[in-house]
Amino acid sequence: MKDLLHANGRRIFFFGALGGLLFGYDTGVISGAILFIKTDFGLSAFLQGAVVAVLLLGAMVGAVLAGPLSEPFGRKKMIVAAGITFTVGAILAAAAPNVGVLLAARFIIGLAVGSAALLVPLYLSEIAPTEIRGAVSSLNQLMIVVGILVAFIVNAIFASSGDWRIMLGLAAVPSVVLLIGIFFVPETPRFLVRKGHERKAREVLEAVQSDQVGADEDPQERIEEIKEIDAKESEAGLKALAAGWVRPALVVAIGLAVFQQFIGINTIIYYAPTTLTSAGFGSDAAIYANLIIGVLNVVATVVAVRLVDRAGRKPLLFGGLVGMTLSMTILGVSSAVLATPKSASDPEAIITLLCLAGFIVSFAATWGPVVWVMLPEVLPLSIRGTAMGVAVFANWAANFAVSQTFPVFLKSWGPGPVFLGYAAIGVIAFVFVKFLVPETKGRSLEEIEEGLLRKAGEGEGEGDGDERRPRPERVGAAH
Ligand code: BGC
Repeated sequence: MKDLLHANGRRIFFFGALGGLLFGYDTGVISGAILFIKTDFGLSAFLQGAVVAVLLLGAMVGAVLAGPLSEPFGRKKMIVAAGITFTVGAILAAAAPNVGVLLAARFIIGLAVGSAALLVPLYLSEIAPTEIRGAVSSLNQLMIVVGILVAFIVNAIFASSGDWRIMLGLAAVPSVVLLIGIFFVPETPRFLVRKGHERKAREVLEAVQSDQVGADEDPQERIEEIKEIDAKESEAGLKALAAGWVRPALVVAIGLAVFQQFIGINTIIYYAPTTLTSAGFGSDAAIYANLIIGVLNVVATVVAVRLVDRAGRKPLLFGGLVGMTLSMTILGVSSAVLATPKSASDPEAIITLLCLAGFIVSFAATWGPVVWVMLPEVLPLSIRGTAMGVAVFANWAANFAVSQTFPVFLKSWGPGPVFLGYAAIGVIAFVFVKFLVPETKGRSLEEIEEGLLRKAGEGEGEGDGDERRPRPERVGAAH
């Protein structure tokens, strides 16, 4: 963090990450706002669900569109487009005269949220010096969780007046700040080199060098590496997505994106007040307990920012799975065997709160940031945007599946088996990380890619039809 604060590029990193704030705010605010929208518009249970879920559908479409579009237009221009979409969506939602317009506005906000989920990590990863790339990319998640916390606070403040229009409209404030700030940040050096703007790329690489780290990272050398790797990847676009050498990277990216959701994070972020109320908390106590969860989410993410470049990505992924699986197991077993708590001071109610807190801390310090850090790291430059579109689409689709099925499963099976089910997914994720996920700490994006090409080279003899051959001298930099 100290390194990060000394970095000349901190203004760039801050504005580059700001889109994460909107992602967090817009996903967090609805849990409070929906209570009042429901009574104002007299919504059925189905329409309530639709107002919440339509954002997730918009986010899936946003990711699929923003990924491929970031290849010709660049990462920065697409962030501007997302900022404009955010602003329009927020204003429309706040002014919605009926539920139809509100649904349209939430879909528009979703388009922007899905694009930001893809563009912000892509931008940060491509602009950060190698030694602090994990910390810089984790700023995305830090912004997301601050956005969620601010939304919980706004919900608590406006709960007494029930003014859902202010709750939704406030999202326009950071989106305007983003739109202003983004004009002062450059395009990423990787994109600039691909488009032949080498001089500009060198200036950017120099601007983001920190005083203490990255000084040994020679901008010219980096540019040569980017050019070389780009030249090797002749295919681009959708066709390349199906190429044999891209497949392992795509499997890792999609797996990380999907497991991040299937381990059940949003059963807590979206439903903690419900879970707490059924564990004996009154609605006020549940809102305060929810704020504690929001604060823990931020604090643990700060820890991750500090750890991710030191400990590495894989140890964090493993550690997080242990914490989350244990929390879900204790929650599942205690819900199944203990009596339903009657008040917040019952030991069963305290166990529930502790398990939710344990899960959040474990996620926030690990899978929350690390997945967004790793998606751009493992995907190759020539199709990084497009391939991220696929992975981020999978993340939102998995989010949609979990958040739509959780209340249904809870009703038909009860909390015990449901939480134990998420614990089982944690075990499967452990096996996935152990055997398929590479460590990316301390390696430049180009070195990581060389590893991918080398693997493809090894697979050639096995008939995967790929003609690429990496330089032999760089084989050592493999997975
Ligand atoms: C996840 C979101 C989640 C948030 C919680 C993000 O990394 O992608 O689905 O709501 O973390 O902090």
